[in-house]
Amino acid sequence: MLRPDGSSSVWIYVVFLLLDCYLEAVFGHLSYSVSEEVDRGTFVGNIAKDLNLNVQELETRMFQIVAGSKTKYFEVNLKTGALYVNERIDREELCGDEAKCSLNVEAVINNPLKLYRFEITVLDVNDNSPSFPKTFLSMNISENTVIGAKFPMNPAVDSDVGKNSVNAYKLSQSNYFAVVTHKGDSVAPELVLQKALDREKQAVVKLVLTAIDGGTPAKSGSMTILVNVLDINDNAPVFNQTLYKAKVYENAKIGTFIVTVHATDLDAGQNGEVVYSFSGMGRGKQTNVFEIEEKTGIIKIKRNIDFEENNAFEIRVQASDGGPSPHTSHAKLLIEVLDVNDNAPEITVTSLLNTDASIGTAIALVSIFDKDSSNNAMVNCKISNNVPFKLESNYKNYYSLVVDGPLDREKAPHYNISITAADEGSPPLSSTSVIFVHVSDVNDNKPHFSESTVNIFIKENSPTGAIIKTVSADDADTDQNGKVTYSLLQDNRNSLPLSSMININSETGYIISLQSFNHEELTTFEFKVQATDSGVPPLSSNVTVNVFILDENDNNPSILAPYSDLLIMNIFKHLK
Ligand SMILES: *[C@@H]1O[C@H](CO)[C@@H](O)[C@H](O)[C@H]1NC(C)=O
Ligand SMILES: *[C@@H]1O[C@H](CO)[C@@H](O)[C@H](O)[C@H]1NC(C)=O
Ligand SMILES: *[C@@H]1O[C@H](CO)[C@@H](O)[C@H](O)[C@H]1NC(C)=O
Ligand SMILES: *[C@@H]1O[C@H](CO)[C@@H](O)[C@H](O)[C@H]1NC(C)=O
Repeated sequence: MLRPDGSSSVWIYVVFLLLDCYLEAVFGHLSYSVSEEVDRGTFVGNIAKDLNLNVQELETRMFQIVAGSKTKYFEVNLKTGALYVNERIDREELCGDEAKCSLNVEAVINNPLKLYRFEITVLDVNDNSPSFPKTFLSMNISENTVIGAKFPMNPAVDSDVGKNSVNAYKLSQSNYFAVVTHKGDSVAPELVLQKALDREKQAVVKLVLTAIDGGTPAKSGSMTILVNVLDINDNAPVFNQTLYKAKVYENAKIGTFIVTVHATDLDAGQNGEVVYSFSGMGRGKQTNVFEIEEKTGIIKIKRNIDFEENNAFEIRVQASDGGPSPHTSHAKLLIEVLDVNDNAPEITVTSLLNTDASIGTAIALVSIFDKDSSNNAMVNCKISNNVPFKLESNYKNYYSLVVDGPLDREKAPHYNISITAADEGSPPLSSTSVIFVHVSDVNDNKPHFSESTVNIFIKENSPTGAIIKTVSADDADTDQNGKVTYSLLQDNRNSLPLSSMININSETGYIISLQSFNHEELTTFEFKVQATDSGVPPLSSNVTVNVFILDENDNNPSILAPYSDLLIMNIFKHLK
């Protein structure tokens, strides 16, 4: 209980003397008042004067204060008659919060014995500050609380009474709250929300509530209030980019990282927990190729990517928060697929079925296709060396296979032409296609007899119908062009009836005798056999056949001897 100021200015309240009526002189009844907390020795009133006693009598008649309570708050100076404060007086200790506080003091005097009673009113001094039951309070207020909402606070208490008690409340500067003081039995404060709270702007509002009493000077006490602004799900997640771009090589391994998408939600707790997914499942085929990690937004490859099937993907990514009525937002993801040289060129050959085989004639169309792109699809094409063909480029990747030299079926009936196409990828891929070229036959070869002359020796009297010789001619051509038939050519110089003498099988070339020859009648004759192929037009060649009829001993010896030498000479002549 400190004095408000230093000891120099002790507050002394005017002491009133109320002298009761004379009837009470025996039990004199006096009233004084004194402020609490005054210094010891503070003058309260002059007893001698007020009781109409001579100062000298006080001592001689043994005037004394009877201690009414344990503590002797007052004492009298017997020399001067002054009633003064003997002990510190605390009004609040004596009377608590009672509005009126007084002490009854009794005094006695001898000769004759007299009893006096005084009532000393203890006046309140503003020696107590208001104080709150708790100096710290934490409150939870939702951010969607309506403006004007009221929050009653416990009032502060002040032991002083009357106007020295709590009189008003004050709040530290705040945009959000104001305080209203309710005056009634007790003076109670109430916080009023003045401006909408926004957790995302200010999550905690710190207030200092001060209670002020009505004393002069006023005393105050304060408490700290921390308002925790409780989150509501009033924010949607926001992607840090509206468009994400990424590139990936085709054939990249499953699980390959593509990109991380990221969204933030200003709300707290579950309201701010972002979960990622793909949206726009209409393009299910595309989104199946990738997967997104729900929590992290990491996007990876889930299935093999083929550039040739899809060279780009456009995916909508969604972020949702975990609030009671979740908010979502979207971003676009463009994934460009980069080509890898994973396709070899494909060669397609279209035969032109050309019958003309002259130089410069196109016999086939060759087209090359490579599914890859750019350099991976740049194709160079070449054919095997040493063939009488060449490739002529028509358009890019289209070629004609052209005859580039003479063709002779009889020398080279077919060609295996290999066409190799290689792309410019790294490493390059190539493929080879073999074209089988069949050189078709032209009737450019005559039948050919291996001998220029055929000699036949037959014995006379040989049986008719015997095969006396087989002639044969080869033809280098094939099929009809090489199919040879034989016939007899009548020599018009020869007058013999050849057709009655011999015959030839046109298929087999068998020469058959149609009669039994008689050496003595005919020793020799000649004819030609023609071999003709079946080409159009047909080609033919001739061979000369000499027939010698050999003598048998079928006649008795006679005069014929001189001719025999001649005959033999004749044979030799023909043989030559
Ligand atoms: C305020 O909310 C927190 C959690 O949000 C809780 O732990 C605390 O007990 C609440 N305090 C009051 C006074 O309701
Ligand atoms: C967005 O977030 C992702 C993932 O955290 C990050 O890689 C990217 O750089 C961010 N973009 C911007 C524009 O900050
Ligand atoms: C062409 O190929 C065929 C079959 O592959 C083979 O039988 C033939 O001998 C080859 N011809 C040439 C001239 O290489
Ligand atoms: C074959 O003989 C006939 C008749 O003597 C003749 O007309 C023809 O030109 C000859 N053919 C050849 C290829 O010598």
